[in-house]
This record gives sequence, structure tokens and C-alpha cells, in this order.
Amino acid sequence: MLQPALTRLEQGFQSSRLTQIFDPLLAQKNIECWVKRDDLIHPVISGNKWRKLKYSLDHALQLHSHTVLSMGGAYSNHLHALAYACQQLGLNSMGFIRGEKPKRINPTLADLQQWGMVLQYISRAEYRTLRQYKDHQALPGIKTGEYWLPEGGATELALKGLAEMVTELDTEFDVICVPCGTGTTLAGIINACPENTEVYGFSALKGAGFLQEDVKKLLNTSRLNTPRWNIQLDYHFGGFAKCNPALLLFMQDFANRHAITLEQVYTAKMFYGLFDLIAQDHFRPGQKILAIHTGGLQGNRA
Ligand SMILES: Cc1ncc(COP(=O)(O)O)c(C=O)c1O
Repeated sequence: MLQPALTRLEQGFQSSRLTQIFDPLLAQKNIECWVKRDDLIHPVISGNKWRKLKYSLDHALQLHSHTVLSMGGAYSNHLHALAYACQQLGLNSMGFIRGEKPKRINPTLADLQQWGMVLQYISRAEYRTLRQYKDHQALPGIKTGEYWLPEGGATELALKGLAEMVTELDTEFDVICVPCGTGTTLAGIINACPENTEVYGFSALKGAGFLQEDVKKLLNTSRLNTPRWNIQLDYHFGGFAKCNPALLLFMQDFANRHAITLEQVYTAKMFYGLFDLIAQDHFRPGQKILAIHTGGLQGNRA
């Protein structure tokens, strides 16, 4: 059972729904494609963010923490969801932000401040150091009542929440696709998938070969040797948060055809990659594919 404050917060969420998309390419290749609209579960804590935060925040409340501390970039979806959730739960929050304080506060940072998150700007070197602290008490100098969440909320408890993206499905798919940053979302999904489902991660980062090992470390031992997952490394569009006119055009076209808004950091790259693989006959005719919309649309204001 979740802590009562968290249950009350979750009552305000919409359940995620599945939407089938139709497209001449899909018809030509005889591929069935569905989108899991986790972007719609909540206006702020959308997509994989709620899944990642849910059980960590529950743990923080169980421990009677009064403050949650975490880290992220100036456009961080993670800090955005965390600041809002903490405000709703009556918790204080603090965010270590990578880089110098910008001359003009962007919409993400403005939201964080509005929701009461105390922001501390740190150098890139300090940020790299913070990355090594994973446990909720690992941050040097952490005080009683403070709870540390590592970058992106990537904890063991996050995996439990992410698995619910799969366990709540009432139908099986041949393939499940998800965008990858740290690979935590991918790992949570692989852990929960039926063994005959193939899971595809699409990296938003350039040169992300290391993700393979990172994801392996997060897998249940029973899933370690299953070959039925992979990470696509060629759809990064130049690197994290980089984008080009082809990607922007794809997003616009996708919104016009399917009435689904994507964002350029994660979800647009995944759908672009998925459609490219379909066009190359990578999948077998008759396969049923699910792509998870992991939200993050607040980033489009940048
Ligand atoms: C919208 C969105 N999709 C996907 C991801 C990738 O998640 P992960 O870091 O778990 O791979 C993120 C980052 O957390 C995100 O904000």
C-alpha cells in the first residue's frame, strides 16, 4: 500500500490508454502499430516520470523525509516532475542544476522555482561527481530527513514502477519500443515483459554503446541471458537534445497524421527510428508493435 498522500496524488491521474495508428507505410508492410499514451496520464508528471518517482517518493514518505534532493540539466523532465510532485506531497525539494545560472530563466526552471524547488547551480565537474551517488543516503553531508534521488530518478524502486508500464497491459505485443537516456526505463520494461516479446530501446545519446552494460546491470538475473532486447544507436540526430530539420519535419508530420505530439529529445527520435526500421523491412509482416510515449512534452517550450 502506498503512503496516503501518494495515493491521493495518484487518484488525480488518468489511466494510460492505447491508440492504434494508421499509416500507408504500416499498411504496405502489414505492421500493426500501437502507441501507449503515458504522456496523457498527468499534465505535469507524465510518461516514465511518474513510474520512476512513485515508489521512491513512497519510500521517502515512509522514512518521514521532509526534503528530496536530486540533480538534472536546465531542461530536466525529471526535476520538473519531482518539483511538482514534492509540492503536491508537502515535501521540500532541492535541485542541483548542471552549469551556470542562465541569464534568462527558461520555462522549466521557472516552474521548478514556482513549485518551491531550491536550485543550486553547479559546475559540470561537480555534476559528474554527484552522478556517482546512487543510494538515498549516499550524498555526502546529507542530513536527517533528507532523501537523495540520483540523476533521472534511476533507482531500484524506479524499476518497480516502470514494470507497471507492462504489467498493466491487457494484450500482448511482439515488439515494445521505448526511448533511452540512461536505459532505466528500458530495463524496467525488459524485466516485466513476457519472454516472447522483443524490446527495442532507441538511444537519444550519441556513442551510447555503454548503455548495453548499464542496462544489463539493472536486469533481473532471469532476464540477463535473454537475447530479446536491443538498443538502436543510430537515431540520435547528432547527440543528446540535438535535432535537425528532418526530425522537426517528422514531428510535425506525425502530429498532423496521428494527432500525437512528440518532443525532440526522446520520443521523436524513437518514432523516427521505428518508422525507418519498418521501411527497411526490419520487422516481419503481421507483427504487432507497441511504442511507449514517455511524455516529456514540457521540454518543447525550450
Ligand atoms: C520523456 C523521456 N523519455 C525517455 C527518457 C529516457 O529514460 P531513461 O533515462 O530511463 O532511459 C527520459 C529521461 O528520463 C524522458 O524524459
